Amino acid sequence: MLKYSCLLFLIFAFSCAPIKEPTPIVNNNYSIIPQPNSLEEKDGFFLLNKSTKIVCDAGLEVEAKYLKELINAASDFEIEQVAKSEGFNIQLKKEIIKGLPMPESYRLTVDSTQVEISSASNEGIFRAIQTLRQLLPAQFHQNQKHSVWGIPSVKIVDAPKFPWRGMLLDCSRHFFSKEVVKKYIDLLAYYKMNTLHWHLTEDQGWRIAIDKYPKLTEIGAWRTEKDGSKYGGFYSKEDIREIVAYAKTRHINVVPEIELPGHSQAALAAYPYLSCTGKQLEVGTEWGVFKDIYCAGNDTVFQFLEDVLTEVIELFPSEYIHIGGDEAPKYRWEHCAKCQKRITNEGLEDEHELQSYFIKRIAKFLESKGKKLIGWDEILEGGLAPNAIVQSWRGMNGAKEAIQEQHYAIASPTSHAYFDYALNSIDLEKVYNFDPIPEGTSDSSKAYLMGGECNMWTEWVPNDSVLDNRMFPRMLAMAEVLWSYPHHRNYAEFYQRVQQQYPILDALGVKYGAETVAIRLKNTTTEKKEIEIELLAGAPNLEVYYNLDNTAPDSTSLKYERAAKLYQTVDLWAQAFKDGQAYGEPLKRHFDRHLANGIEPELSYEYSAYYTGGGNAATTDGVRGTTNFRDGHWQAVQKVDMEITIDLGEEMPIRYLASGYNQKQDSWIFFPFQVEYFISEKGKKFKSVGIVKNDVSPQADGQLIKDFDLRLEDAKARFVKLKAYNIRSCPVWHDAAGSDAWLFIDEFLVK
Ligand code: ACM
Ligand code: ZN
Repeated sequence: MLKYSCLLFLIFAFSCAPIKEPTPIVNNNYSIIPQPNSLEEKDGFFLLNKSTKIVCDAGLEVEAKYLKELINAASDFEIEQVAKSEGFNIQLKKEIIKGLPMPESYRLTVDSTQVEISSASNEGIFRAIQTLRQLLPAQFHQNQKHSVWGIPSVKIVDAPKFPWRGMLLDCSRHFFSKEVVKKYIDLLAYYKMNTLHWHLTEDQGWRIAIDKYPKLTEIGAWRTEKDGSKYGGFYSKEDIREIVAYAKTRHINVVPEIELPGHSQAALAAYPYLSCTGKQLEVGTEWGVFKDIYCAGNDTVFQFLEDVLTEVIELFPSEYIHIGGDEAPKYRWEHCAKCQKRITNEGLEDEHELQSYFIKRIAKFLESKGKKLIGWDEILEGGLAPNAIVQSWRGMNGAKEAIQEQHYAIASPTSHAYFDYALNSIDLEKVYNFDPIPEGTSDSSKAYLMGGECNMWTEWVPNDSVLDNRMFPRMLAMAEVLWSYPHHRNYAEFYQRVQQQYPILDALGVKYGAETVAIRLKNTTTEKKEIEIELLAGAPNLEVYYNLDNTAPDSTSLKYERAAKLYQTVDLWAQAFKDGQAYGEPLKRHFDRHLANGIEPELSYEYSAYYTGGGNAATTDGVRGTTNFRDGHWQAVQKVDMEITIDLGEEMPIRYLASGYNQKQDSWIFFPFQVEYFISEKGKKFKSVGIVKNDVSPQADGQLIKDFDLRLEDAKARFVKLKAYNIRSCPVWHDAAGSDAWLFIDEFLVK
C-alpha cells in the first residue's frame, strides 16, 4: 500500500551530506501520474550533481540525449555521457524484463549509488524517463539552475494496460501554432500518452499543404468571419515533418485525420467540382454539420482523395490514417444523379450503403499503401470495411459492436472523453471513472479494445490558454485510466496526487482549469415562501465568497458558511477560492422576489424531461435562467403553448405581470409570438388584461433572453394566468424548416 503522507514539496538539509556541499532540492513523495503498476519506496536518495554521468546501451542514444537535455536545462553543470559505468551513474539499459510483455514496459530503480532504467524497447526507456522526471521536484521543471537534485530511492516496475493512449487535437475549427502542437506532444509524453490524433481538415478550415491541390490551403485554410476579418492558417510540409520528428523522439505517434465524406466544406470551397452540386461554397464559419459533402458518384473525387492521401502518407510514418467518416448527411446524395447512378450500378441498398462503399474504397486504397484505416463509429453503418478500426464516440456501442466482430476499436465516448464539454457534464472524477472496455465484453474480445482518447474539439477554444483550461487536469485522469487501468480506483487518493502535479504544470506553463464545477447552486423556497440558496463547493479546501449586487467577490465579501435566505431581488455573484486564488468559473444568478415565489403553479403542459427548470415550481422559484438554455433553470415544451395559473391564496392588488423566455434559433428555440395575461377572482372565469407581442425576429441569432412584461393599474386578483404562444414549427427560412419549435420559460413574475 502506498502512502502519500506528506503532501508538500519540502526543501530540507540532508543530514549525511558533507559540510559545505550545496543543499539538494528533494522531492520527498512518490506522487506519480499515471500510477505505476508496482512501486516500492526505499530509504535514501540519489544525488544528481556534477559527478553524475549518463551511461547507455547501444541504440539508446536518442533517449540519452533527451535525458541529458532535461538535466542540463535544470543544472548549473553539464552532465556527461560516458561509455562505461564509473559509479554514481544514470544507466539506460536494454533488457527484456520478465513478465512484462508490453513494448512500453520498464523497470526503474533508484538508490544512493545509481539510477538504473531498463526496458526491452526505446519506448520503455522513454516512459521510464518520464517517471524519473516525476520523482524530481517542481523546481527542476522550472529549469532553475541548481547544482544538486535529490531523487528518492525506489523500485518501480511498470507497463501500460492499453497500447493506444491518445488525444485528438482539432486544429481546424481553430488553428494552433507549431509551438502549441509541440507543447502538447511534450505534455502527452510527460503523462505517458502515446498518440496525437491530429484533426487537420474540416468544414471551417483545411490545414495541411498538399502540393497537387494548392487551393486547399490558398482558399480552404481561410475563412471570412462575420466581422469581415480573415481567420485561418495551415501547416507547411516542412512544419509537419518537424512536428512528426519532434513527436518521434518523444515516442508519440502522430495520426493524421483527413475527414471524408462529410466535414469537407473547406475542400469543396477550394474545388467545387468535388461536391454533388458543383456550386461555389464558402469555407464554413458556423459550427455544426453541413449537408454539402464529397460526391460519391464522381470518380474524380476518389482520384482527388487518393492523391491527397498519397501526400499525407509520405509525411506521416503512422501505421494508421484516420478518415473521419462521421456526421455525413445523406441529403445531397439522395438528390444527386451521379450518386444515385452509383447506388444502382453497385447494387447498393441505399445512401448508407453508399457511405460504406465510399469508406471501403478508401480503405482498399490505404491498404494498398500499407496503411490501416480508422474511422468514427458511423463507418459501421452499411457494413464495415475489412480491417477498419472503429473509434467509438456516440457512446460505447460502436466499440462494442466492432470488437464483437473482431475489429479493433478505440473508445472516446462523449460521456467521458469529450474535453471540449463543460465541467458540469465531464469533470475530473467522471473521467477518472471512465471504463474504456464496453460493459459485457467477453474476455476473448477484450484484446480488440486498443485503448482510448480524449477528444479536444475546438469550436469554443480560440487559443491555447482555453485549450490548457479544458485539457487540464482532465488529461491526467485519462492518462491514468489508459495506462494503469486500475480495477479499484480511489478518486480521493488520485485527487491528492493531482494536487502534487500543479506546481509542475505551473512550471511547464500550463494554464490548467478546475477539477470540477467550483460552485453548484441548490435553491429552494421555504414554507414561508422565502428563497433559500445553498452554494455547494465542488472540491475540497475551497472557500466561497459572494456579493449580492452583481460585483465580483473577493475575500472581503460575504463568506458562504451555510444556507442563506434572500429577502429581496438580488444579483448573486459567487466565486470559489483555493489558497487565496480564484478557482473555477464564478456563479452568477439573478433572483427575483415576487408574490408568487414558493407557490406551485398549475401547468397546462408536460415539460420536457431534459428541461424541467427544476420541477413543477420552476416558474415561481425566483431564480432566473441565464443565456445558456442548459443551465437547469429553464422549463421547456416542444410544439405546444404554455398556460400557467397561479393561486396567490387571497385577493391582492396586482400591478405587474411578466415572464421570461429564451431564444436560440439554431437550437430550434424561439421566443413566443405573444404572451397573454389574465386575472380572476375565483379561478373559474379569467379576464384578459393584456397581450404582449414579440418584437424580436425569430431569425435573430445568438443566445437571447427577454421578459414579456405588462403593467396594470387598479387590478386586484387572487388568480393570475399566462398563455405563451409557441410559434409551433421552425419557419420556412430555417435549416430545420417544419420541425417542432421549442418554447423555454424560466419565471412567471407577479408583483
Ligand atoms: C465527432 O464528434 N463528430 C466524432
Ligand atoms: Zn453526388
